[in-house]
Amino acid sequence: MNKPFEAVKIAENIWWVGAIDWNIRDFHGYGTPRGSTYNAFLVIGEKIALIDTVKAGFKSELMARIGSVIPPNEIDYIISNHSEPDHTGSLAEVIDEVNPERVLASKIGKNTLANYYGIEVEAVDEGMSLDLGGLSLSFLETRMIHWPDSMFSYIPEWKILFAQDAFGMHLASSERFADQLDKSLLKRESDKYYANIVLPYSTMVEKTLDKVAEIGLKIDVICPDHGPIWRGVDVEIILDWYRKYVEGKPFKKAVVLYDTMWGSTDMMARSIGDGLIEAGLTLKVLRLRHSNRAELITELLDAGVFIVGSPTLNNGVFPTVADAITYVKGLKPRNLIGASFGSHGWSGEASGIIQEWLMDMNVEIVEEPLKVRYRPFEDDLVKCREFGKSIAEKLIGRLE
Ligand code: FEO
Repeated sequence: MNKPFEAVKIAENIWWVGAIDWNIRDFHGYGTPRGSTYNAFLVIGEKIALIDTVKAGFKSELMARIGSVIPPNEIDYIISNHSEPDHTGSLAEVIDEVNPERVLASKIGKNTLANYYGIEVEAVDEGMSLDLGGLSLSFLETRMIHWPDSMFSYIPEWKILFAQDAFGMHLASSERFADQLDKSLLKRESDKYYANIVLPYSTMVEKTLDKVAEIGLKIDVICPDHGPIWRGVDVEIILDWYRKYVEGKPFKKAVVLYDTMWGSTDMMARSIGDGLIEAGLTLKVLRLRHSNRAELITELLDAGVFIVGSPTLNNGVFPTVADAITYVKGLKPRNLIGASFGSHGWSGEASGIIQEWLMDMNVEIVEEPLKVRYRPFEDDLVKCREFGKSIAEKLIGRLE
């Protein structure tokens, strides 16, 4: 108890030495109500390697955890699997303090670290083996999962994969292993992480999963750079979740996203929702200002219907809806059908603009925009309900 922080043992001579960020609530625009971790790992052979570092501001925690196992200046190699600042913000300071013999990254990582920080490192070749004496590290390029520089490191002797952002989640916890945590919580946070970070790169994820299978990489432990470590039967569980994410198969589920000024678009959304339910879909209705973008894209991950509503404000779309669509569009959700709706006073452009945005996102439009002037009366709400029901039936027709 005479140390401020302790490392956590993963296997013989392999330690977690990262930092827990209990209080982060916004990760570059992605709401993180459960905080996060910045995982780093110490591998001790005759040579000692540190895999990844931590975000700026967490260096002292990293160094203290390393110091609970070995004096930090005994580190020989630092491996940077991914250059994003949550894993490299402290790298320059760690290099200064540790003075390692070698610092290694992928070829693109070498350029990124030079351009971002002015840090000169050595590039590794895929398939290269770094002998640590008793243990070794090999490297696998994983470009665009989720930056061009990304790579995995692997210890064949222990079948441990260091997967940087892949298989991770933003979850601060006292537990370090997935088998110590509730699976439904892990699934929810894994879905959210994939939807918000990895989704646009699903093709690359698929190629990587295929490559891992093709080269027969045996994996007993997966150490991601965020959240818990996967071991034992949990390795197959997270790999299976990723296979399903890649497949992107839609379920009988609809997401209705909207905002409202005086309640008219809200009334429309609720009647549309009732039609979707009547036809047999699971429904999520998200009113912006009460929901966030990260929640929206997470709900879209397994949905088949995306319906978006906005009142017309100054001849355009309500700003919260425009913000959410901009965010979602960049994440490239797949296999959706949808439509738009909204109330207006005199001009009524919003739902038409939204329809164009949905088409830009490759959402298949199955109904023309549904508009209501001023406020919906009963017959308007009946039309809204029919609108929802008709869209739901189109999805069910496609899935059956
Ligand atoms: Fe956790 Fe892409 O950084």
